Amino acid sequence: MDAAATSPSTWAAVDAFVQEQLFEDEPVLAAALARSQEAGLPTLAISPGEGRFLELLVRMTQSRRLLELGTLGGYSAIWLARGLPEDGFLLSLEKDSRYADVARRNIAAAGLGDRVEVRVGDASEALRQLRSEGAPPFDLVFLDADKRSNPVYLKGALALARPGTVIVADNVVRGGAILDPCAEDQALGEGGIEGLRRFFALLGAEPGVTATVIQTVGAKGHDGFAIARVERVANGA
Ligand code: DHB
Ligand code: MG
Repeated sequence: MDAAATSPSTWAAVDAFVQEQLFEDEPVLAAALARSQEAGLPTLAISPGEGRFLELLVRMTQSRRLLELGTLGGYSAIWLARGLPEDGFLLSLEKDSRYADVARRNIAAAGLGDRVEVRVGDASEALRQLRSEGAPPFDLVFLDADKRSNPVYLKGALALARPGTVIVADNVVRGGAILDPCAEDQALGEGGIEGLRRFFALLGAEPGVTATVIQTVGAKGHDGFAIARVERVANGA
């Protein structure tokens, strides 16, 4: 097949093929999505392939303490938490208490309620509070809340990092809209693309961080993850 001729339907078909070849049928995950849909949550959850990628990343880095911004219905939290050892911990921050209720039910149904806390509130405020409490650093942080605030979230994540902390940010490509400073992305809301572009500028200017982007095509169209490793933290550790 001519690679240049592939289209969104091919990307989705390859996603389905990969899922069929490599993943078990998982009623727990299907139930989580169904419950989210029934509750009227927006259908923005990551794909199974992306979820497995996050699970693998947690395991490859042997992360034990995870932070997620933007729980939605808990679908990505389930994948992240699956990568944890039994005594691992995921703190997931969600602004909307109704989303958080659905997420808690989904996470409990997946048997992961013992290692996941869903905390309701503004993520910027929660990050500040964690910092002022002297919370121990996180091993891996997944940024997937409102993209307009991504620069603040990046700073907050860096303040809660140690050398070796991995930061992953969802939705940083948006079908190429990231290239256009004037672009607006309906699903991301006003200022979403601008927030992502400021996030890139900050990430690039951060001396203690090595970062790249993995572009993705699949059932969710053309998008990408930013992946960064904190090499040094600001206090020189
Ligand atoms: C969309 C997907 C996401 O993962 C997200 O965080 C926001 C929006 C979307 O599909 O539009
Ligand atoms: Mg996302």
